[in-house]
Amino acid sequence: TFQTIHYTWKKIYSIKLNSGKGFIFKAQMEAPLSPKESGKFITENSKDVFIENKGVREVAELLCEKAATKEFSIEGWKSLHELNPQKMDEAALNWVFAVSTLNFSFWSEREDAKCLVKYKDKTYSGYWALCAAFNRALDEGIPITSASYYATMTLEQLKHVLRSDTNVPMPLLEERHQVLTETGTILLEKFGGSFLNCLKKSEHSAQKLLQIVVENFPAFRDEAVFMGKRVALYKRAQILVADTWSLVASKDDLYFHDISCITMFADYRIPQALVHLGAMRYSDDLMKKLKEGVLFQSGEQLEVEIRGCSIWCVELIRDIMLELLAKKGQDLTDEVNAVLIDYYLWDYARDHRREMADIPIHRVRCIYY
Ligand SMILES: *[C@@H]1O[C@H](CO)[C@@H](O)[C@H](O)[C@H]1NC(C)=O
Repeated sequence: TFQTIHYTWKKIYSIKLNSGKGFIFKAQMEAPLSPKESGKFITENSKDVFIENKGVREVAELLCEKAATKEFSIEGWKSLHELNPQKMDEAALNWVFAVSTLNFSFWSEREDAKCLVKYKDKTYSGYWALCAAFNRALDEGIPITSASYYATMTLEQLKHVLRSDTNVPMPLLEERHQVLTETGTILLEKFGGSFLNCLKKSEHSAQKLLQIVVENFPAFRDEAVFMGKRVALYKRAQILVADTWSLVASKDDLYFHDISCITMFADYRIPQALVHLGAMRYSDDLMKKLKEGVLFQSGEQLEVEIRGCSIWCVELIRDIMLELLAKKGQDLTDEVNAVLIDYYLWDYARDHRREMADIPIHRVRCIYY
């Protein structure tokens, strides 16, 4: 059946990323719902994850107070994170592309055994350890953000670049190697080795850039089958568009005319924050599983519910924020979008880890987030 074919495809795909078979299966399928449509469809059919309107409103109110502050702007996002590239040029775009290709699965099994990377007197963990490792490599003269280098780099070379300062390595090193070399090869063959060429082809449309990425780079195709429908979550692909946006947009020029088509990035941190803030609720069954530390499979029903409902929840928060701001006479349709809400909630989740400890993250090991 459809479900099995897709599942097989996912399996083949996650085992062997270059498998040509994946494309045959894919061609037989209808186009997936967009992340926004997927979020709505998943929420309407969800059995273990629910959106709480009262909580949605409260989060919207909280965020409205923040909307005017620096934290809640692309400039703020950039300046609050010193490892991000600070100025826009071709090298910065290629940095964002390469980092976002490997932007997945940083959580550690144990709180006291983490992969850590020291860089310029600071020690980083999680996603920031990846950024630190990239910057460390660049300082050592390893061109880790150049497709011509990483398309053919060996696993040993990548292990060296991503080495940890503890005895816990970064998770999924072999998968990272496979994804990076595959993506680099495609960037070289189809786009002259530079992400700038993808951006040029997108003609100032975030939607189009997203399409270019998911159509050309299989490792960004974060899709699943939910209740017989093909759904797309596109976590890394959308972040790639958003991070590109934060590089190329400025106060007077948004660059993309349609950035609000990008939804939040469904990972494991934002759902936790949404549940903590009361905007989303898990069934008792699901909560029990999370507390037991069950390892979910990428694409299984519960996992898709958690991610899909988070997307729709953030869309609802955004709608109410715009409504509240409009009442105050402020039209911020362009300024308030899911990207900024996501950035804000992600930092919130990081800063409030302790208070949220009673809501475990859902554990999945996959290349999509
Ligand atoms: C990587 O993922 C994190 C968290 O989801 C996000 O905040 C960050 O912007 C991403 N970076 C890139 C370069 O994709």
